[in-house]
Amino acid sequence: LNYHVPKTRREILEILLKGLRRLEYRGYDSAGVGIDAGNGKDWESNARSIQLIKQRGKVKALDEEINKQEDMDLDVEFDVHLGIAHTRWATHGAPSPVNSHPHRSDKTNEFIVIHNGIITNYKDLRKFLESKGYEFESETDTETIAKLVKYMYDNRENDDISFSTLVERVTQQLEGAFALVFKSVHYPGEAIGTRRGSPLLIGVRSVHKLSSDHIPVLYRSSAKEKKTLPRVDQDTCLFPVDEKAVEYYFASDASAVIEHTNRVIFLEDDDVAAVMEGRLSIHRIKRRAGDYPARAIQTLQMELQQIMKGNYSSFMQKEIFEQPESVVNTMRGRINFDDNTVILGGLKDHIKEIQRCRRLILIACGTSYHAGVATRQVLEELTELPVMVELASDFLDRNTPVFRDDVCFFISQSGETADSLMALRYCKERGALTVGVTNTVGSSISRETDCGVHINAGPEIGVASTKAYTSQFVALIMFALLMCDDRISMQPRRREIIQGLRVLPDLIKEVLSLDDEIQKLATELYQQKSVLIMGRGYHYATCLEGALKIKEITYMHSEGILAGELKHGPLALVDKLMPVIMIIMRDHTYVKCQNALQQVVARQGRPIVVCDKDDYETIKSSSRTIKVPHCVDCLQGVLSVIPLQLLSFHLAVLRGYDVDCPRNLAKSVTVE
Ligand code: G6P
Repeated sequence: LNYHVPKTRREILEILLKGLRRLEYRGYDSAGVGIDAGNGKDWESNARSIQLIKQRGKVKALDEEINKQEDMDLDVEFDVHLGIAHTRWATHGAPSPVNSHPHRSDKTNEFIVIHNGIITNYKDLRKFLESKGYEFESETDTETIAKLVKYMYDNRENDDISFSTLVERVTQQLEGAFALVFKSVHYPGEAIGTRRGSPLLIGVRSVHKLSSDHIPVLYRSSAKEKKTLPRVDQDTCLFPVDEKAVEYYFASDASAVIEHTNRVIFLEDDDVAAVMEGRLSIHRIKRRAGDYPARAIQTLQMELQQIMKGNYSSFMQKEIFEQPESVVNTMRGRINFDDNTVILGGLKDHIKEIQRCRRLILIACGTSYHAGVATRQVLEELTELPVMVELASDFLDRNTPVFRDDVCFFISQSGETADSLMALRYCKERGALTVGVTNTVGSSISRETDCGVHINAGPEIGVASTKAYTSQFVALIMFALLMCDDRISMQPRRREIIQGLRVLPDLIKEVLSLDDEIQKLATELYQQKSVLIMGRGYHYATCLEGALKIKEITYMHSEGILAGELKHGPLALVDKLMPVIMIIMRDHTYVKCQNALQQVVARQGRPIVVCDKDDYETIKSSSRTIKVPHCVDCLQGVLSVIPLQLLSFHLAVLRGYDVDCPRNLAKSVTVE
């Protein structure tokens, strides 16, 4: 949304489409845009009608569709302009132009809306609206929102009702999760954004050089400042900005706006943000005592280059190769390798309480869950506490008992995964201390937990998570080290692990140098239907994570198998044709892993073995090995997973698939 910063329609569409491309990793089955339709010079009359363009497929398809619009004058210049755009990951209704966003209130596009999330009571709302004569055109839950806002408008009690009041009334009827942005012909130049459960932020860009008076002010809720705060009423916070030179960007995440501004406001649940005549106001719907709508404008550290592919063919490949640096960034300023101390600023006020707890529960989904599985053993060892590792959805399904003296960790790259967020709220209600381990500053999980650790891996764009996994792994190990820093009996082990962390980045580099060899292996495997990955102990998580990578991006069947369970079923799958990968490292499970290897070989299996580069015994008895450097046992999993990340990447490329955008998946799953 720009105010008094003249732009042509072409430029405006370019900003919207570029933003969508940056968000495409969150969903990419269809896309759409809604902009002011007129071709006149007067922006206000242009904004009295809205043009919608929607297309199935990726943002590129939408771009092509826009270029086909013959009656659209791309050179017409706007002084004030608002456009909204969306890229979809289908939940209700198949990908198609009519099911894609923006959704509209009626055939003349009086109100349009874009939505991230799920409305769970949409059937009842739809039935009600149909009974009032509103005709639906799509199968989506979102369309009910567009119709509902028109219903509120058509039934308004007075003519000067504000757009934000209408939206507030709409949200009061909605159940489920949403981040919404509205636009209307009745409110030209005005945008309303609101959220509950799904992320939404506002980027603020002052175009001209502003004096300090003009820079949006952060209002803190100290009593003194409250008194002097200009605001329209008790529940609203106003950001006075020079209205002559401002652009606002509503977005689900910062990667969509970072090339325009690094100054953002993260909205909270039940905030209604209105931008009108160059002013942003944020209003709380449900105001509780002491709940003040002041929102900080934060300056993000993210660089544009961090969300660009650079010389790599895909984000996933770039992120795999970034791991020597990303694990350093996770440790930066937190470990002193000279005196073997660990400091985690986000936990320091709570560590005593955590040390006194009854048990630790690690809760997550997907790859983040595997980071919990990977570090469980060392957490148990160093904290001497029982550690449960839970998939968020199952944890909720079971109504798992949680107590006040439990400490619950929520591991999430995005910090927005709906299942993990719901589990967090569940644990909070039961009085447990909650700890976030996320990669996204300002995310819902990082804001709603009592304390936490940011893994600082940098933005991860590839849908298949790689560098976030190794950084979560390292962050959890640092936590375990912190928990036992005053235990004398643990010091030799602590020193061993800390010195292991010191060399880890170089060892990761060494593993990455196996890329050509792994690519060659991929050429031998890519036409197979299935791959089994076996291991135990510290490497069970590697098997699960490797198999998940292969499933996600190559669409081959793959299964991570605990080698201890081999004889209880999976061995029946083994024959001379079945591709098998085994992880055998020189730790306390070594002998048992050798037994598993013999069991597979005895069934004519010819496993590819990921092993220690000095393990001549395994190298001698295996037909094919991937040799990785040796590291302290509990960190070895960081090294053993990388060959599988690389393998899945090469398999997907050879099979001709889009590595960053696997079918049916999305990076950030903000629906339950
Ligand atoms: C999705 C992604 C996975 C990710 C999982 C958990 O399924 O495709 O890559 O591991 O969500 O995401 P989170 O952001 O909570 O770590």
